[in-house]
Amino acid sequence: CGIVGYIGHREAYPIILKGLKRLEYRGYDSAGIALYDGTDIKLSKTKGKVADLETKLEQEISTSGSLGIGHTRWATHGVPNDVNSHPHYSNSGDLVIIHNGIIENYESLKKELIKRGYTFKSDTDTEVLVNLIEDVKKNENTKLGKAVQIALNQVVGAYAIAVFDKNKPNEIVVARLGSPLAIGIGEDEFFIASDASPFIEYTKNAIYLEDEEMAVVRRHKGVKIRKIKDDSLVDPYVQALKLNLEQIEKGGYDHFMLKEIYEQPNAILDTFRGRLLTNEAIIKMAGVEDNMKKFLNANRIIVVACGTSWHAGLVSEYIFEDLARIPVEVEYASEFRYRNPIITENDVVIAISQSGETADTLAAIKLAKSKGAFVFGVCNVVGSSIARETHAGAYTHAGPEIGVASTKAFTTQITVLTLIALRLARAKGTISSSDYRHHLIELELIPAKVKKALESDAYVKTVAAIYKDVHNFLYLGRGYNFPVALEGALKLKEISYIHAEGYPAAEMKHGPIALIDENMPIVVIATKKGHYEKVVSNIQEIKSRKGKIIGIVTEGDQQVKALADHVIEVPETIESLTPLLTTIPLQLLSYHIALMLGKNVDQPRNLAKAVTVE
Ligand code: G6P
Repeated sequence: CGIVGYIGHREAYPIILKGLKRLEYRGYDSAGIALYDGTDIKLSKTKGKVADLETKLEQEISTSGSLGIGHTRWATHGVPNDVNSHPHYSNSGDLVIIHNGIIENYESLKKELIKRGYTFKSDTDTEVLVNLIEDVKKNENTKLGKAVQIALNQVVGAYAIAVFDKNKPNEIVVARLGSPLAIGIGEDEFFIASDASPFIEYTKNAIYLEDEEMAVVRRHKGVKIRKIKDDSLVDPYVQALKLNLEQIEKGGYDHFMLKEIYEQPNAILDTFRGRLLTNEAIIKMAGVEDNMKKFLNANRIIVVACGTSWHAGLVSEYIFEDLARIPVEVEYASEFRYRNPIITENDVVIAISQSGETADTLAAIKLAKSKGAFVFGVCNVVGSSIARETHAGAYTHAGPEIGVASTKAFTTQITVLTLIALRLARAKGTISSSDYRHHLIELELIPAKVKKALESDAYVKTVAAIYKDVHNFLYLGRGYNFPVALEGALKLKEISYIHAEGYPAAEMKHGPIALIDENMPIVVIATKKGHYEKVVSNIQEIKSRKGKIIGIVTEGDQQVKALADHVIEVPETIESLTPLLTTIPLQLLSYHIALMLGKNVDQPRNLAKAVTVE
């Protein structure tokens, strides 16, 4: 989501509106603005884009006022509709808030507030937070800043917030944990935003809040920053911004794709949030819990998807069969829907889609539903067509993916599917409790290991420079990493337009081996866990045909290193989780090659982010 705020001597509305348009790349399900007009709060919000808000708002409310906050939403809790849009009022109507992130313990907080007589209009965690602040403020009889601090100390989750009180219309209180928040410092005016793009034209001076910091931003006075936990004061560090607008939107990265590749450690953490409770050895997923019977009675799981999502589905086949012992079939949605498939009421269909709008996947879902199957969705876009059409589901919570070539959506899809498989395995008793715990612990370590895998970037770039001019690439992997080989090849095709094929390593000798000569680079995924010795033999077969070998190996590997032309290391993990790590260098390899060839990385020719035609 994107948040914007203003307090100063100008009209707030035009600044906030323009700011929201700049932040729309962060989410575009709904938008809203609250202004203080000198006597009261004026609020307008709507489902849809910022342009929709503009039309609605200007008909609904007066736009005057020199204090205001605005929000463009990428939904997490609650479908995108008018009521769930931000800003949210507190029950008294005195406070108004905007929020990015997820409050994990909102259900228990909400129950408590309901007992105290609070009512809720929306399904959002945000409305819980603003009422919690109001409750603290009343009970403790404190100022807004203190109330925010006390409330945030009760909250588990991630947030960037901005809140103001109509009875104290000279200040905005902001806070951050896990979601970015910048404060622009102008001449007797202050700007608040998720990144500097909304205020860069007014000021180049900005303070970036650190995690667990909050600030009270006062008209004519300035910014006071404190640590949320221990209330200690923090010296504001004002930075002089050097980036231009476009660079800011991309978070300082050259392309959205690169930004999204680097977002993966956090995206996976967001996917875990509220679900993976390692200490208690629990996986909590409402959509699975509510339909446990359907899953447990399933004769088989049929996965339907397209493109990269189909590859995530293939990885899940290994996971579901291995851990939960449920037979899985993975189908291209476009093939499935047109071949009179056999579907029964005892089948569970899992539809995977980043956008939630892919026409073939949607049609496959409708067909499966018409035959009585239970259909479960794994989507990234909240409230998307597929999310609505399925009986239940689990969101990936990866945040908006802008680059056409899918990256963080893929790894978060695998993460969600792994969580589901583990939950089912536990329920079915197909995994021992020690093995289950071991998986949870390893899963929790994945974000840090993805970060580590990203450190190969500079070396991957040197490999890219060597092979950028070839016309063919081969990608090989076995077991869990066979789908990763397919995905690696797809990434390269999509953005560099180099022909690439992914193959199961052992199947190479039945065809692709004929292509191998000294000009052919072959990317081989050869991690220690997972048919290692067999893959080493495959590498030897390539070597004797003079193929160029780029090995994706486990840290410290010696055997493949001795054979390969290049090795790219990833941290060690259990076999089922290796795809989350081996994927990373393949994404980087395609990125660097495409860039060196001068291709449009974020918008490759002929491709679309969401294919809504069949
Ligand atoms: C398009 C995109 C791919 C994506 C596929 C499926 O082809 O370019 O990146 O994998 O559609 O999209 P979905 O939104 O259903 O995951």
